[in-house]
Amino acid sequence: MRMARSIRMLVGRIGVVATVVLTAPAMASDPATTLVGDAVAGQARYARACARCHRDPTEILQHINWVLADKTIESREVWLRDFVTNHHNPGAEATVNIAAYLAGISGS
Ligand code: HEC
Repeated sequence: MRMARSIRMLVGRIGVVATVVLTAPAMASDPATTLVGDAVAGQARYARACARCHRDPTEILQHINWVLADKTIESREVWLRDFVTNHHNPGAEATVNIAAYLAGISGS
């Protein structure tokens, strides 16, 4: 009797673990969780590092839309990170966050 109950509890626990493992890939496909940088912090950094020359980010993004349009948000982030690293580089952390910000508002 006691044994049966602990086996049932064990099966229940395995079920919980299996559910967590099975739902993990679904969570990873959420755009908010797949970007490396912090887009909110990136917006603030853009204002400080880029806006004096590019007041409206959508304008410069339109100029490079030919390269961004067919990419996923993650690939846009990688491309933008490379670009910003070689263009008025605002430092490593700011670069990562600005790339995440611009990736999120580009590509359409
Ligand atoms: C001192 C001025 C200056 C600063 C600061 C600056 N840029 Fe630029 N940027 C330019 C100029 C000049 C060009 C090339 C001319 C153009 O296309 O407008 C350019 C081009 C670009 C382009 C390509 C668009 C195109 O027209 O081909 C992007 C994207 C870009 N900048 C993003 C950024 C980002 C992101 C930052 C902040 C990290 C930044 N820039 C900071 C002056 C600046």
